[in-house]
Amino acid sequence: MSSDIPQSNGASKGPLKLVVLGASKSYEITSIKGPVAALSPVNMEINEGEFVVFVGPSGCGKSTLLNLIAGFIAPTAGQILLDGKPVTRPGRDRLMMFQDHALFPWLNVIDNVVFGLKRRWFHPTLRKEKARSLLRMMHLEKYEKAAIHELSGGMKQRVALARALAPDPRVLLIDEPFLALDAMVKLELYAELQRIHLATRKTIIFVTHEMQEAACLGDRVFVFSGSPGRITHKLSIDLPRPRDFNDPKVVGFATQLMDRLKQNNQNPARA
Ligand SMILES: Nc1ncnc2c1ncn2[C@@H]1O[C@H](COP(=O)(O)OP(=O)(O)OP(=O)(O)O)[C@@H](O)[C@H]1O
Ligand SMILES: [Mg+2]
Repeated sequence: MSSDIPQSNGASKGPLKLVVLGASKSYEITSIKGPVAALSPVNMEINEGEFVVFVGPSGCGKSTLLNLIAGFIAPTAGQILLDGKPVTRPGRDRLMMFQDHALFPWLNVIDNVVFGLKRRWFHPTLRKEKARSLLRMMHLEKYEKAAIHELSGGMKQRVALARALAPDPRVLLIDEPFLALDAMVKLELYAELQRIHLATRKTIIFVTHEMQEAACLGDRVFVFSGSPGRITHKLSIDLPRPRDFNDPKVVGFATQLMDRLKQNNQNPARA
């Protein structure tokens, strides 16, 4: 399938919340004459509570689309609508969790999480209570006073996840969070992320290069082709949750995703 026409996903429930309507992006790069097209017009509809994954080759505009949805950058054409209203700037309803976790090294674990709550709750005691409950959710309650440099990479990602969840955003945007982590830690975090998704029913948009990760986590996976990026395939992963990363059915979907990426490589003109 190679249509960019918005389609509602029969598999997911809940009202429609996020719509990308012909959004494209070109960057002006001073060292290169003229604009550089990063993303061709993209159309998609994402339902409340869906776990959506973007996969595609490096430079195809996955992070660009995430940044457009976050409101960090504006589309060159088209628009992003959240509940029918155009996204024009970042907002607390959409929170981005970055690959390098972007924790504040001068704050300890709990204060990093409390930071995400500063504008939501006035009372410091309430903020601490909420932060503690999030750290419990991440199995980090014993580390609340630890310094960031005392944590492993996986623990830092858990703190970053707790901080991103703290203001209770409706949409969580996650850009390749597990790249630098070892295989065992990744397995734990896949389970954790699925548990959190099931418990909170947040809308999650997740970017990865890993097909098995995409198949393990996504309700739907969007496959992008090379630059300027466009969506070439959409695959619904209708497996029950929680999913085991090494489940043969997950591996089967990962193979399907890989096949689609290969098709894009072999037929770049059609992709
Ligand atoms: N701030 C920017 N200024 C200029 N060009 C940019 C900027 N950000 C991204 N680009 C360009 O836009 C294109 C898409 O980049 P983007 O980071 O969205 O890709 P990506 O799919 O996330 O890649 P990766 O998988 O490597 O993270 C690339 O050609 C990149 O050089
Ligand atoms: Mg990227």
